[in-house]
Amino acid sequence: MTMTEPTLPGVHVRVLPVDETEADQSALSPDERQRAARFAFAADRRQYVTAHGMARSLIAELLGADPAGLRFAAGGGKPRLIEPAVADLDLSLSHAAGIAACAVSFGGLIGIDVEPLARRVAPRVARRFLATDEAAWLEARPPECRPEDFLALWTLKEAFAKALGLGIQVGFGRFSLRPDPPRAIHLPREAGAARAWRFAQWRPTPLHVAALAWRDGLCGERLGKV
Ligand SMILES: CC(C)(COP(=O)(O)OP(=O)(O)OC[C@H]1O[C@@H](n2cnc3c(N)ncnc32)[C@H](O)[C@@H]1OP(=O)(O)O)[C@@H](O)C(=O)NCCC(=O)NCCS
Repeated sequence: MTMTEPTLPGVHVRVLPVDETEADQSALSPDERQRAARFAFAADRRQYVTAHGMARSLIAELLGADPAGLRFAAGGGKPRLIEPAVADLDLSLSHAAGIAACAVSFGGLIGIDVEPLARRVAPRVARRFLATDEAAWLEARPPECRPEDFLALWTLKEAFAKALGLGIQVGFGRFSLRPDPPRAIHLPREAGAARAWRFAQWRPTPLHVAALAWRDGLCGERLGKV
């Protein structure tokens, strides 16, 4: 796994650490500020504000626009830029303890996920979210490697589910991936040909793992229903 962000054509990735400093909310919309105000924990609020502020500044830089002037579709799910409308722009966000990440793609579907390497998931919980062959692969790994191997696999699966725009609804047992090197073993029918997908994984900080899933040339096309 590399320490540096992946380079893919038309894909822009930004990652920022989130510390105790309150992030600047000045470019956020009234809706985003209201949502930020509703977080029970300050750490969650800072992650959210950093991720959404960063998405605005990255997209504004790429489009030559004002970050505060961008508008996103309401209603949750995969974030979607509606003003200015850019037909082939896709976007994905992730935030977790100590980190926020954003990926923007022109001409392809994009999904990003970050996790703290210190996150621990009980093996019986982990197995519920893995395909049978993924669980067998994890079981065959040395015991001391399993927690980080699970996180490597999990971030790839989340990034893929987010690229599809389905999140948890994709059914995490319906597709199979592998880290090191990051790749698809089996994808659900609605994802199209596995060869069109690219996966990348890196450590944006010594304490975090990040994954990116990208499919070239599907933006604007409708994906099949699950
Ligand atoms: C919501 C989900 C898309 C990702 O959640 P997550 O990995 O916990 O959180 P992340 O910060 O990485 O991603 C959240 C962002 O994904 C985006 N998102 C939400 N729904 C999405 C969807 N259907 N498709 C793509 N992106 C989506 C949003 O931008 C959201 O951030 P926002 O609410 O601030 O706008 C979904 O896959 C999920 O609920 N996963 C958690 C399941 C889980 O934890 N299981 C236990 C495993 S051990």
